[in-house]
Amino acid sequence: MQKASRKVASPRVVCVQDFQPLARRRLPKAVFDYLDGGADGEVTLRENCRVFDDVTFRPRHAVAVAECEVRTRVLGFDVAFPALLAPVGYSRLMHPDGEAGAAGTAYMLSTISGHRVEDVKAASSGPVCFQLYVLGGRAAAEAVIERARVAGCAALVVTIDTPVAGLRERDYRNGMQALLSGSLWEKMPFLPHVLARPAWIARFWRDGGLSTLPNVIIPGQGPMDLVDVSAALARAAVTWHDLGWIRRLWPGPLVIKGVLTGDDARRAADAGATAVVVSNHGGRQLDGVPASLRVLPEVVAAV
Ligand SMILES: Cc1cc2nc3c(=O)[nH]c(=O)nc-3n(C[C@H](O)[C@H](O)[C@H](O)COP(=O)(O)O)c2cc1C
Repeated sequence: MQKASRKVASPRVVCVQDFQPLARRRLPKAVFDYLDGGADGEVTLRENCRVFDDVTFRPRHAVAVAECEVRTRVLGFDVAFPALLAPVGYSRLMHPDGEAGAAGTAYMLSTISGHRVEDVKAASSGPVCFQLYVLGGRAAAEAVIERARVAGCAALVVTIDTPVAGLRERDYRNGMQALLSGSLWEKMPFLPHVLARPAWIARFWRDGGLSTLPNVIIPGQGPMDLVDVSAALARAAVTWHDLGWIRRLWPGPLVIKGVLTGDDARRAADAGATAVVVSNHGGRQLDGVPASLRVLPEVVAAV
């Protein structure tokens, strides 16, 4: 076993929750809180987790289980495990391999990726879907949709719950914007938390520092800078009207991510969606919306 994998092997990591304290120890506070936090008072984030405790299994016992098989088929592709990995922007801040870290199961690659869609596809043994934000305008979006198609992405996932970036209070408290783009003077109050993680700093600099977004190419300008993402998201809202344009560009499976009501699920189906992701963005967008698991029965009943 390699040194890196030993560090996350049992008994240090037995379940997914065990990664949280490891990440807290390894990442600067601003990066950890970006990953771990939600919007505003984090009511929805807490509710997402709590509701899982309310839902229990209804077991049927005394049946023969000759073979356990969790392999299934989703959107026309086979997955060895019945879960798809959700898109996570800025992953390269957490680890240089970021999105190209070979998921091994189906993976949705965020537009806010630090690695090229072609490289992520090449590094991945499972299907890769491309998650779209219309960052940088329609021409930039059309170019990345075409790149995702040529790279062999299995589906296009359009996120509709991000008309603006959610108000993540932890990011403000940690001076995220100042750390990303401020002067040394503006960064100063927040630097102690970063300097407390020298191993992360060394990896970050070896990786070339703050990367641009290699999949968001602004015509005539080149790749979008990471620091411009928040402002670009505020100009990137997707409406039902835009889905007609996207549907015409993408011939394959189209997934609408961020659906929380039966009405929106039906609208997505009418707009040509192959599937919807019932999601509140992990409580990172509009705080106060219900837990995704809570609204799942309404959406299933609607479509
Ligand atoms: C650090 C972080 C970054 C995220 N970035 C994106 C993103 O770029 N695009 C997106 O559609 N969702 C993004 N999400 C939301 C996740 O894809 C997912 O919706 C969330 O973790 C909750 O999971 P669920 O949708 O399965 O309930 C991000 C979530 C986290 C924690």
